[in-house]
Amino acid sequence: MLPTRQKAEEILAEAEKCNPGAWGNHSRVAAHCAERIARECGDLDSDKAYILGLLHDIGRKFGTRHLGHVSDGYSYMMSLGYDEAARICLTHSFNRQTIDDYIGKFDTTRDELNMIKDALDGVELDEYDRLIQLCDSIAGVGDVMDIEERMKDVKRRYGAYPEKKWDRNLMLKKHFEKKMGKDVYSVTKKDVH
Ligand SMILES: [Fe+2]
Repeated sequence: MLPTRQKAEEILAEAEKCNPGAWGNHSRVAAHCAERIARECGDLDSDKAYILGLLHDIGRKFGTRHLGHVSDGYSYMMSLGYDEAARICLTHSFNRQTIDDYIGKFDTTRDELNMIKDALDGVELDEYDRLIQLCDSIAGVGDVMDIEERMKDVKRRYGAYPEKKWDRNLMLKKHFEKKMGKDVYSVTKKDVH
């Protein structure tokens, strides 16, 4: 289940009040990209893509956490019955479906970590998971970014970027470009405001 677009926008705006930061606009850029790419793919629901993009980082509502934002987002969306959004809160951080190459601190409790592992094991990544992983890796704070520049920025901030995760993001970009028959940036060029 998913909230409507309007409800998702309200949830994000409310969450930003609890923990103001750049993540809100990053989420809006990811939503914009997801909607545009989904529209070009032909077999994806662009409304669903937009809503998933908007809510992928919703766990940040509960404070500045690293891996913890994944479990916070997952639990929050599940508590509202939005299981499809909960899934994206989980999968957007693990493009190789493993927590081993997570970028950031493992700042969860043991229970939260087990919840993440169990939920991730039970998922078979689909096109929406892959789409939001890609959009997360091209969404800056106010605009779409070159994927390698965005990854370099993450690398600068966190000190490292696992090579396999990096390569997987480039593969995702190629995958969707092949599917669309178009360049990702030509499709996501911003006129979002
Ligand atoms: Fe995130």
